[in-house]
Amino acid sequence: LVRTFAPRTQNYCKNYQHHLNPQASYYKVAILGAAGGIGQPLSLLVKMSPLISDINLYDIANVKGITADLAHCNTPAKVIGFTGTSELADSLKGVDVVVIPAGVPRKPGMTRDDLFNTNASIVKSLIEAVADNCPQAFIHIITNPVNSMVPIAAEVLKQKGVYDPKKLFGVTTLDVVRANTFVAKKKNLKLIDVDVPVVGGHAGITILPLLSKTRPSMSFTDEEVQELTQRIQDAGTEVVEAKVGEGSATLSMAYAAARFVESSLRALDGDADVYECAYVESNLTELPFFASRIKLGRKGVEAFIPSELQGLTEFEAKALEALKPELKASIDKGVAFVHKQP
Ligand code: NAD
Ligand code: LMR
Repeated sequence: LVRTFAPRTQNYCKNYQHHLNPQASYYKVAILGAAGGIGQPLSLLVKMSPLISDINLYDIANVKGITADLAHCNTPAKVIGFTGTSELADSLKGVDVVVIPAGVPRKPGMTRDDLFNTNASIVKSLIEAVADNCPQAFIHIITNPVNSMVPIAAEVLKQKGVYDPKKLFGVTTLDVVRANTFVAKKKNLKLIDVDVPVVGGHAGITILPLLSKTRPSMSFTDEEVQELTQRIQDAGTEVVEAKVGEGSATLSMAYAAARFVESSLRALDGDADVYECAYVESNLTELPFFASRIKLGRKGVEAFIPSELQGLTEFEAKALEALKPELKASIDKGVAFVHKQP
């Protein structure tokens, strides 16, 4: 069902065949916050994509050197740097996919919600520019707290009259990547075979791995479910603590974000078999935004998979109910932020 990102990047020569196909389409990607801990390795990974013609790197500083450096890789995508708000609009013109890792990361002892005040304004201003310059683009939001940043983006796009709920995504791919890694290790399986859907949101208990829906089908003891669920929910904090004040996950996040970009580009390119988990506007539950597995198509979210929320174990059903108040509060906080702006 889900192809992994790994084989595509590991076999660049094979992927390069795409460029020998005169019918092939190529896409333009912008990374906002490209000079950061996530932005830099993400830029490198997307430079390896056979589906990209142009990568626009935008940040408030330090873009020039990164652009010069990256442009020396002998892969086809053309790299252009844009520095500061005066160049933001140009970085977005004609772009098909905008990825936003701009904003501050956590330090030990902080929650993702503690980043709200700083990051809300950053995301709001970047989305205003996206609305003005490439309203048709897929928008991937990495900035935390994702649970609130996506509703902020939606409200800004609505105010600008260009909101397309099928094209706005909170990036939760890292939760799936982690779940796959931890489950494969615990069950001694080949990584490539394991796929765990993760639903809800992207913070603490709102991250809900549906272990009962793991592919290939397997059983877990109650202890394994407890342990794996907690590890997946706390994995971000595990990295924040290990980095002792130097930020949060950057390399695994870049890998996960690159996978989500590649999936989006394959969907834009007409691949009819692209599935990812993401945090999107949804009516699967009573919450207006909810992460779940979606089918991606040329126009964005093409379908939800309601059956994945059916037949949950008692543990999962309880956890799903327990996460709803926190997720709702984060959504409401994001919406209120936009409406209280002068
Ligand atoms: P970082 O501090 O290393 O980089 C952030 C970058 O954003 C910097 O280069 C900074 O100059 C830039 N920036 C700040 N304001 C900007 C603006 N107005 N316009 C453009 N760029 C701006 O941080 P990081 O480690 O790359 O993390 C970035 C964000 O991603 C954080 O909020 C972090 O919590 C989040 N994150 C999310 C996930 C996820 O799973 N969704 C995973 C890891 C990190
Ligand atoms: C993660 O899950 O690694 C990110 O959301 C960053 C963080 O603050 O934990």
